[in-house]
Amino acid sequence: MNTNQYVAKSLELHLFFGRIMKEHALFLKAGFTPANAAFSNQAMLYKNEFEQLLMRAVMLSDGVVSRKVLCSGEVVTEFTSLAENQTERFTGIPINKEITERELRLCNHYRVFGDAADRYPLIKQMNRTALKLLDGLISFKETILNNVVGCEMFTMNYPLLIEHIIREAKLYRDYLEMLERDGDLTEQSMKEIECFWNQIMMEHALFIRGLLDPSETDLFHAADGFAQEYAALLENCRSAHQQTLTSEALEKTIRFRDFKMAGTQGIEECEIRSVILPLLADHVLREANHYIRLLQN
Ligand SMILES: [Fe+2]
Ligand SMILES: [Fe+2]
Repeated sequence: MNTNQYVAKSLELHLFFGRIMKEHALFLKAGFTPANAAFSNQAMLYKNEFEQLLMRAVMLSDGVVSRKVLCSGEVVTEFTSLAENQTERFTGIPINKEITERELRLCNHYRVFGDAADRYPLIKQMNRTALKLLDGLISFKETILNNVVGCEMFTMNYPLLIEHIIREAKLYRDYLEMLERDGDLTEQSMKEIECFWNQIMMEHALFIRGLLDPSETDLFHAADGFAQEYAALLENCRSAHQQTLTSEALEKTIRFRDFKMAGTQGIEECEIRSVILPLLADHVLREANHYIRLLQN
């Protein structure tokens, strides 16, 4: 096993997915009604736990994680700080904004130390903590989903959104398990990557379509168009005998990323009517940036 590789790959995963998980917990918390105070408290605990994990990952990443990842727009974007300020104000849910400042510095003041072997024991421990947290968060999300589809609970989050964030959490767990088992991430086929992320992008388009104000007809149709385009890509990807359309996926995802970027800016500047939290807009933008990096590899 290459220790440097293990350390860098683990940190890359935590920088992207650790933030994604803490934001999922925040979105869940923001969606509960006063009838589900216990669930709301539980969501807050997961938000805090993943926030702590992310802070540790950020502190250990300096000099180790590649510039390509740090500056890809999947860890943090130019919109994240304002999105966090606004989301904290709108929901009353506290957000540790120092993490964002540090992440921006990691990209802007990039440096390389080379050897990271001394961080191995800390990373090993961090991966174990993350796996335990993920088992809890996945089963928490599954309980919410079962309650919602069984009509025992009401939340402002769509059932499809809850399914979607369960899949993202399971992907994070699968990668961590792979790292712990093999010491590295075994090469995944482009087909697997594209099938997973084309579905995620399609669902983002569906969420955006469904969360816009009904008066935002142009944006509604644009989002619907992306949903249909990704549905076609997904179908192609899933049909076993066809070659995946990697360059088409890249071209579409760059266009969709630009759409999400304009959307995030429009929401932050109060120019778009919707029930989309600014941090949710930035969150789906980061996921598009992540997919673009994978497609360009
Ligand atoms: Fe997500
Ligand atoms: Fe997502």
